[in-house]
Formats: sequence, structure tokens, C-alpha cells
Amino acid sequence: GEGYFTYDPGFVSTAACESAITYIDGEKGVLLHRGYPIEQLAEKATFLETCHLLLFGELPTEEEKAKFEDIITHHTMVHDQLSDFFHGFRRDSHPMAIMCGVVGALSAFYHDSLDINDPRHREVSAFRLIAKIPTIAAMVYKYSIGQPFMYPKNELSYSENFLHMMFNTPAEEKPINPVIARAMDRIFLLHADHEQNASTSTVRLAGSTGANPFACIAAGIAALWGPAHGGANEAVLKMLDEIGTADNIPEFIEKAKDKNDPFRLMGFGHRVYKNYDPRAKVMKQTCDEVLEELGLQDDPQLKMAMELEKIALEDEYFVKRNLYPNVDFYSGIILKAIGIPTEMFTVIFATGRTPGWIAHWHEMIGGNNRIGRPRQLYTGETKRDL
Ligand code: SDX
Repeated sequence: GEGYFTYDPGFVSTAACESAITYIDGEKGVLLHRGYPIEQLAEKATFLETCHLLLFGELPTEEEKAKFEDIITHHTMVHDQLSDFFHGFRRDSHPMAIMCGVVGALSAFYHDSLDINDPRHREVSAFRLIAKIPTIAAMVYKYSIGQPFMYPKNELSYSENFLHMMFNTPAEEKPINPVIARAMDRIFLLHADHEQNASTSTVRLAGSTGANPFACIAAGIAALWGPAHGGANEAVLKMLDEIGTADNIPEFIEKAKDKNDPFRLMGFGHRVYKNYDPRAKVMKQTCDEVLEELGLQDDPQLKMAMELEKIALEDEYFVKRNLYPNVDFYSGIILKAIGIPTEMFTVIFATGRTPGWIAHWHEMIGGNNRIGRPRQLYTGETKRDL
């Protein structure tokens, strides 16, 4: 009853909401979106179809698919004045720093979709976020290398368009490699939702106050940035660089096991999965496909990652604690092969996670929302007089 509460730091055993979007069985390594296994979605659906599934509860029919793609395509441009924001940042800013600011700034541009009590406004905001975040992500990259921003191109698919805005220039427009576009789409899809992870919970908590969706998604981006969460994909590549060669792996394994050493194996372990992250398997397959397409099968970092995985999975420390590779373990190797710089990896995660964040925000606002307000165990001074 009121006045009594449980103490659960880190929310290890507390459900904060009801949700019908995503189901995880961590013991069995199962992940379902609206009932569909992630492996089947990765094989048979596109990222945008998965967005439709998360948002509306069903995969689109052919007709709905065409309509949804058309809507998203026609929201990909950002207000021209939004580009002015970039110039206030240093060129060497971390891309996630710019993402937090610029995505939050969207709430200052789209006043016609800020009424959270109007379902039509909520829907338009959802479309805008899904469509504009890849545009902003590509602008962040272009700004960092000093190239002009690329406009989106309506005849391209979501992922082709993203690669176009990242890698083409007004002087040279190369066709997009379909194998790479498919891999990019799959990376977005594999990140699309993961129930009440830290960033989604942040979006929900921010949203529970009635804050507008652009501000809530900016809060989610901030929470995603940390290396224990979405920042892990960047941290994995930095770790592989630091390990250097396979001979050094045992030394780093020992460091990861040492409780007096802050080093942890990045891309390893998960709060919920205690028997493999099913996304990691699909990611590894995608990694093999991309490296083969690009003639990089002998990529030394892939070899090292596989060796690291093998050694860790045979080590008693990792076995006893059920620590397996998670979604972030192999994604960085693919992204690097595609030509995306390490600092952009978490931005890619944020782009993929956008539909999940919005689906949860929608579910919450459309349901019985009550402001999120955790309690505490007070450990300070008892009352005293000055
Ligand atoms: C994501 O929640 C989600 O769904 C997130 C996500 C999503 O899609 O939204 O799946 C995305 O964030 C993936 C996780 C990315 N993070 C990393 O790869 C960073 C490395 N991993 C760890 O920091 C850690 O495993 C977490 C943060 C992922 C999980 O933290 P928990 O659930 O609090 O687990 P824990 O830290 O309590 O670990 C249990 C034990 C501890 O040892 P003991 O104190 O029991 O002896 O396992 C050890 C930990 O020290 N441990 C590790 C380890 N991860 C856990 N030891 C070495 N290396 C590791 N990576």
C-alpha cells in the first residue's frame, strides 16, 4: 500500500509498466517483437516494416507498406534553419553530443505536432522522428569531416538514403551497394527495440511528465550514450584496438576478471540474457556477409573478436556468470568495414532504436499514464538544529 515500497537499485526485479511491444526470455535467449522472433524479422522484414510493427502492432500489408514508406520518405528533410545549429559545435565534438542537442532542438521547430493529447499530433511526431533522425545523424558525420550536408533522396529506400547522405557528395553520387544497404538495414532492425532498457526507460520517465516527444527522445539519446549501454559498440572497437593482437587476449581476459581493475569486456554480458543474445548471432552472420562482399574475410579485428569470444566462453569466470556477447559485440566490425567511423557507432544505435523509443512513448501516453516517481531509502542526517 501507499507508504511501503521495495528497495531495488538498478531495477533488477521491478516492473515499472505493462507493455505489449517486445517480449524477452533471457534464460532461453528469445526476443519477440509483437510476437515475431527477431531472427525471422531480420530475414524477412525491412527496418521500416519493423517500425510499422512496433508502432501499430502489425506488419504492414503491401498497401500499408507503400503508404508508410511514402510518409517517412516525405518527412526526411529537416527545417533548413536546423542546419545552423551544427555550426555552433566544434568540428571534433563527439557525434552523440551533437545528437543530444540537435534532436532536442526539433521541439523548437515542429510546433504543429507538440500536443501530446492529440493522437494525430503524436503520430506526426513519430513519423518526423523516424524520418529525420537518420538525416541528422548523417549531417553530424558530414559536419565532422567538413563536407556539405546532403539532402535526402526520395527514390531511395530508408537505408540506401542513409548511406547516400553519409557517403555521397554533391560532386559525386555513387550508386549504393545493395549488400551493404541490406546490412545497414539489418543493423537498424536489430536495434529497433529491446523493452525496458535504460534509454527506453528514460524516454518513458521523461514522457510520463507530459514532456514533448522530441525532448523525450533527446533524453533517450543521452541515456544511450554511456558505455554500459549503447556506447558499448564504440567501446568494443576501442578495446580491440587496445588489445592489438590475439596474443594479448589472455592478459585482457585476466584484467576483465579482476575486480580491482575497472576494465570489463565490452560487448559482453547482459542484464536479461543469460544464454546468448539472439541479436548477436544475426549480427555475426551479417558481419560475415559484409566482410565477404568487401573482400575483407581476413579482417584481423574480426579474427580477434572471434578468438576473444571463444576464450571467454571457455573461461570459468564468464561461464559461471552467464556472460555472452551482446548485440554490440559484432556490430562495430561491420560498421567499420562499411566506412563508418567509430565515434558514429552509437549514433547508428540511436537511429535504429528511435522506433522502439517512440512505440513505448506512444503506448504510455495512449494508456494509463501516471508520472514516474521512484522513492528512496534516505541515508542522510536525522533532523538537527542549527
Ligand atoms: C545494451 O538492457 C538492454 O536491453 C540493453 C541493450 C538494448 O538493446 O537496449 O541490450 C543494449 O546496452 C547491451 C549491453 C552493452 N554493454 C556492454 O557490453 C558493456 C559491458 N557489459 C557490462 O557492463 C554489463 O554486463 C551490463 C551493463 C551489460 C549488465 O550489467 P548488470 O546486469 O548490472 O550485470 P553485472 O554488472 O551485475 O554483472 C554480473 C556479474 C558481475 O560480477 P560479480 O560481481 O557477480 O562477481 O558479471 C560481471 C560483473 O562484474 N560482469 C562482467 C562483465 N559484465 C558483467 N565481467 C567482465 N566483463 C563484463 N563485460
